Amino acid sequence: MPDMTAHRRGKSWLPMLFPIFIAACSSSSDPAGAELSSTPANSAARGAALYQQNCAPCHREKGEGVPNVYPGLLGSAAVRGDPIELAQWVLSQKRPASIPAGRYPTQMLLFGWMNDQDAAALLTYIRSKFGGSASAVDAAIISRAREEYGNDRHR
Ligand code: HEC
Repeated sequence: MPDMTAHRRGKSWLPMLFPIFIAACSSSSDPAGAELSSTPANSAARGAALYQQNCAPCHREKGEGVPNVYPGLLGSAAVRGDPIELAQWVLSQKRPASIPAGRYPTQMLLFGWMNDQDAAALLTYIRSKFGGSASAVDAAIISRAREEYGNDRHR
């Protein structure tokens, strides 16, 4: 338990500490800081968070889906298949042969608002988590998928 008197005494040091804080913050905008934010570990965490927020409500946390309501992503041919087709489905709902129509009475949402970096992190996450050894997806693949089909085309 910290002693409160010591805390109060410590306050007089604050003005002197400010310049140090400012120096520490501004260093995060240098090139080394920018590089740090795109390390594989960071984008894996980003992909997991995006999945939990946007996909887990229907496809569930472990990708098991809800029988007859939402398909599972675990072991899905679409998840481990062609990354361009997967991106086009998630961003624009262009339906590939691996996602046959008429199986579910419900509808998927569109995620065309996601930026390339985030969409790449998300798809890499679901492919590694639910698609066995399916390859990673990078931002260039997402942007190619958009070029080939557009974005939110059917809205
Ligand atoms: C509102 C519920 C809902 C949300 C949220 C949702 N989906 Fe779906 N998803 C569906 C439904 C319903 C289908 C089946 C659609 C069909 O076949 O017409 C589907 C199908 C899929 C498929 C094809 C699976 C297969 O093998 O048939 C993939 C891949 C997929 N979704 C990925 C995602 C990702 C990634 C996210 C998050 C960014 C997401 N979904 C968010 C409802 C949802």
